[in-house]
Amino acid sequence: MTRLAFVATALATCSTAALADTVVLTADAMVDVERGTLVDDPVITIVDGVIEAVATGEAPRIEDARYIDLTGKTILPGMIDMHVHLTSDHDVQGYGALAISDERAVISGVVNAQTTLMAGFTTVRNVGAGSFGDVALRDAINEGDIPGPRMFVSGPPIGITGGHCSDNNLLPPEYEASGENVADGPWAVRASVRKNNKFGVDLIKTCSTGGVLSKGTKVGAPQYTLEELTALADEAHSHGLKVASHAHGAEGIVNALKAGIDTIEHASFIDDEGIRLAKEKGAYLSMDIYVTEFILGVGAEMGILPESLEKERITGQTQRENFRKAHRAGVKMVLGTDAGVYPHGDNAKQLSRMVRFGMTEAEALRAATANAADALGQKGKIGVIAPQASADIIAVDGNPLADIALMEDVTFVMKQGEVYKSE
Ligand code: ARG
Repeated sequence: MTRLAFVATALATCSTAALADTVVLTADAMVDVERGTLVDDPVITIVDGVIEAVATGEAPRIEDARYIDLTGKTILPGMIDMHVHLTSDHDVQGYGALAISDERAVISGVVNAQTTLMAGFTTVRNVGAGSFGDVALRDAINEGDIPGPRMFVSGPPIGITGGHCSDNNLLPPEYEASGENVADGPWAVRASVRKNNKFGVDLIKTCSTGGVLSKGTKVGAPQYTLEELTALADEAHSHGLKVASHAHGAEGIVNALKAGIDTIEHASFIDDEGIRLAKEKGAYLSMDIYVTEFILGVGAEMGILPESLEKERITGQTQRENFRKAHRAGVKMVLGTDAGVYPHGDNAKQLSRMVRFGMTEAEALRAATANAADALGQKGKIGVIAPQASADIIAVDGNPLADIALMEDVTFVMKQGEVYKSE
């Protein structure tokens, strides 16, 4: 065949066959995460990776469509974890972290991205990575080089000298080590936001209190003044970037909320003022109430510092009680787990803890899907099985509204219409 004839044949084939890639997916049941109900015999029509129609009953006959039959399974929107560190590993803690270069960490990130996707998380928000490794990972996934969840990334977090987030207090002064993106003062903070924006982040991560796993910081101590946090949020918002603030202590939570920060990470010691402000501002809490079990279980063997274990002992239980309290008060919640501190792929373990500490199964699933999408500014685009949403669809064997732990065993994963796992 001459080259011209080949081109002509190819064009003819294209015009008769559907140009669009159409998939019709059927299953026993579907969780409608927004209503919190189970829908029987769902029929999902997907065109070029986007959901076109959601119906029930018999599957339509569409010429050239591919059919995916998930008999025996319940489908849900792909889960979203709002607090992960794909470039961190659970067995690299404390002083062990000093031996890992940012480049090596990104290679772990390639592996962890796949593990996370296979666990049913089709989207993650990565809140902190060195050297913009998360930007590189996100782009490699989006360009189809490697499998992984859709990523929203912060780049290097912005924090105070000596604080949790950016600085690293492990080395004595003669090393003159200062962490990436340490910024003190409103203008330095604004410059850091501008730099992160320049290098392609989707959001800004900061810390408005000390942390558990950082050496020498106190979970109750505020980081940054209200003036600095207000400058940070103002600068970020002016670039269309949302802000996540790590905050355990009550004062730092209130400061972050007053500054207009969009999501509060951990929120362990949130008080009545924090709860009131979170509701007033419509801020989301992302409370990682599973990770405490890992830290206190095997953290010491993983190299977590004794002082950090001590801090975890005063934080974990209160955080769980405050999760119940804030939820009961009507504060908006998302699923955020801190995966990377504990093994990637175990993200869904937190759902059963969210139910144990006060949510219904439907509320926990909504926190991991539709609510998380809203907190990302992606409402309707992800986190739901509905027309116009990305075809991010997972399946489990059974009804997760009756047994939430089923979410720990996802047997089918589709992201943007492409199947990554099918058992
Ligand atoms: N990255 C967090 C920190 O170092 C982990 C906190 C884990 N503990 C908890 N109870 N959520 O502060």
